[in-house]
Amino acid sequence: MQQAVKVTDTIYWIGGNDRETDLFEGLWALPRGVAYNAYFINDEKRALIDTIKADKLSAYMERLVSIMPEGGAIDYLVVDHMEPDHSGSISILRKFYPNMKIVGNKKTIEMINAFYGITDGMIEVKEGDVLDLGRHKLAFATIPMVHWPESMVAYDSTEKVLFSTDAFGGFCALEGGIFDDELDMSLYEDETLRYFANIVGRYAAPTQKAIAKVRALDPKIICPAHGPIYRSNPRHIVDLYDKWSSHRTDPGLVVVYGSMYGNTKFMTDTIARAAAEAGVRDVVVHDASRSNLSYIVRDIWKYRGLVLGSCTYNTELYPPVAALCRALKNKMMKNRVLGLCGSYSWSKGALAELRVFAEQCCDWRLVEPTIEVKSSPTEVDLKLCRELGRNMAKAVLSKEDE
Ligand code: FEO
Repeated sequence: MQQAVKVTDTIYWIGGNDRETDLFEGLWALPRGVAYNAYFINDEKRALIDTIKADKLSAYMERLVSIMPEGGAIDYLVVDHMEPDHSGSISILRKFYPNMKIVGNKKTIEMINAFYGITDGMIEVKEGDVLDLGRHKLAFATIPMVHWPESMVAYDSTEKVLFSTDAFGGFCALEGGIFDDELDMSLYEDETLRYFANIVGRYAAPTQKAIAKVRALDPKIICPAHGPIYRSNPRHIVDLYDKWSSHRTDPGLVVVYGSMYGNTKFMTDTIARAAAEAGVRDVVVHDASRSNLSYIVRDIWKYRGLVLGSCTYNTELYPPVAALCRALKNKMMKNRVLGLCGSYSWSKGALAELRVFAEQCCDWRLVEPTIEVKSSPTEVDLKLCRELGRNMAKAVLSKEDE
């Protein structure tokens, strides 16, 4: 039987790893899985913090019963967030523990009804309300739109433990260790940024408000709903989320191309080489047809510069590049510098659409020259590509664009 893991003497991790789901939300690649974290507080009143995706309930229950007295009751289920990777087992848990009160805010309670048809045995809490478990006192703070409207955090003021739901979460299953001091955090930071960029990043402004609330609490331990638990340096993950949600970037360049026969790829490779020669150490190149969008979005979130290159397909932008542009507009990233190039054979189209994209991203600065090639690049075209690479390097390395 799987065992609960002690976070403190009376707080336990009872989550589960998912290495079977290929795409999170049906979209985002999970080559290293994802953890759904949930917690149990063993006090005079027993409380669960969140449930788990329905098909992972057995791991959750095994861990829970490993520390529960036989026949013991659960008094409260705190629901911090309603996305079904955390709320998916509410109905069955309620059947298992019929007297368990479900604790959520007004929006949570509406959603529980809409998702699971449950209308009774609920306690509605508001900002600042406190649930008394005995020794532990759980205070609630809403963090709307991080990344759903009902999202809230629960803070145990006794042990200074913050249950932060999706905030400060990340992809990657918990590989043996579950705490930040037990894991290779360079891997987890990459996967946490990928999670932030794709799941939470669109809601950067609400995330900033949430961070202000969390900093005021100054928790000793941060227990997110995904990824590691931060107990050795909880401020570090808050600082990272702060950096990402305030659109602070590193001086690097992402080059993304969509190419059928290699001509656009030749242009973007030439741009990438020129940028590297001009001193950009971090250059990441993605083939839009082959890299999962989540990795491209992650790297664009990280670095200051982006070069987009696209061939023309049926008179329009190449479909994978169009999908990326749509995703980037949705994410509302700020403070980037952008270079553009495109190619066509018998009808123009791609570069014009990229220029429209650049105008729509009004916080981004367009770096010249933009380059459009007919069929395959000539030596004159490649000279322009090298010029764009050098100019991108200047913009990426310049302090003015920070
Ligand atoms: Fe991890 Fe928004 O659910």
